[in-house]
Amino acid sequence: MSDPTQELSNKSFVARLSSVYLSILALFCFKLFVKISLNLLTYFYIVRGNRKEAARISAEFYDHDRKHRPWADRSPLHDAAGQGRLLALKTLISQGHGVNVLTIDSATPLHEACDGGHAACAEALIDAGADVNASTIDGFTPLFNACTAGSVACAKILLENGAKPQSLVYHPSPIHEATRKGHYGCVEALVTWGADVDTDIPHLGTALYTACVCQELPCARKLLREGASVQKGKSLESPLHAAAERDCAAVVKLLLDFGADINARNKELRRPVDVAPASSPTEAFLLIYEARPRRLSQLCRQSIRSSVGRDRLHLFSRLPLPDRLRNYLRHK
Ligand SMILES: *[C@@H]1O[C@H](CO)[C@@H](O)[C@H](O)[C@H]1NC(C)=O
Repeated sequence: MSDPTQELSNKSFVARLSSVYLSILALFCFKLFVKISLNLLTYFYIVRGNRKEAARISAEFYDHDRKHRPWADRSPLHDAAGQGRLLALKTLISQGHGVNVLTIDSATPLHEACDGGHAACAEALIDAGADVNASTIDGFTPLFNACTAGSVACAKILLENGAKPQSLVYHPSPIHEATRKGHYGCVEALVTWGADVDTDIPHLGTALYTACVCQELPCARKLLREGASVQKGKSLESPLHAAAERDCAAVVKLLLDFGADINARNKELRRPVDVAPASSPTEAFLLIYEARPRRLSQLCRQSIRSSVGRDRLHLFSRLPLPDRLRNYLRHK
């Protein structure tokens, strides 16, 4: 006959053991349940077209280090291009990976390379036949990404290989982006390759207007030298209104130098001096400017530039004139 106390402790030991197993099983089931529901949720979002949310969930779920572009379907080529790993990229290309492989949002490896400002990778991709005009579903081109990143090298490689310097209306515009971020080199490259300096995007206005809003003096000067219209802003809001409103005296002076109309009225019928902050240096400057007659040399320059016309401004350098005069006409 067995000892009853011994039997009791054995029983409780068995009970304890099984409860440990039970809790492990419960934990496992719970984890499985969470995984399945997250998968279902991701699937549901993809099916319903909410790709961003789907990507966010799957990025969180798979816990990958994809802070930048949390798309679940990036190829190894996207990763190599985005991280600027040239050797890996070239190896992948030589192994026959297609260079125009797309993510859910139609981003190509070239988009990634330009986003990271990796010019050597961009070049390798283009050499292997990447499409320089590829556009994501949101209308972003590799050139736009290069302008966001401020990579002049990437922008030049794209433009040299036939990328169109300008996007369609309502699509993200490279020249606006480069101006907004003050990437002078990118603005210069875009203009050199024929981007229209007067491109007017309905919700943004012209690139010059963007430069005035963001107070990017060098970009504003570059656009004006290349013949951007000094009056064109965002509907009735002129670039001078934007600069005056932000009390940016340097840009205000620049605009007036290029003949901005001090009496232009915006849609509230207010002039630039009216929108300048009260008793600011800009307001004082505009009031004094109004009261004084224009300089004759300035008026002559404006008149000559407007009769030469935007498309022929670059020919100034060939005019048989003294250097000083030529440079004066070119605002140099
Ligand atoms: C890119 O688009 C522009 C304008 O549509 C076109 O002229 C150019 O040939 C295209 N480049 C390439 C490499 O397809």
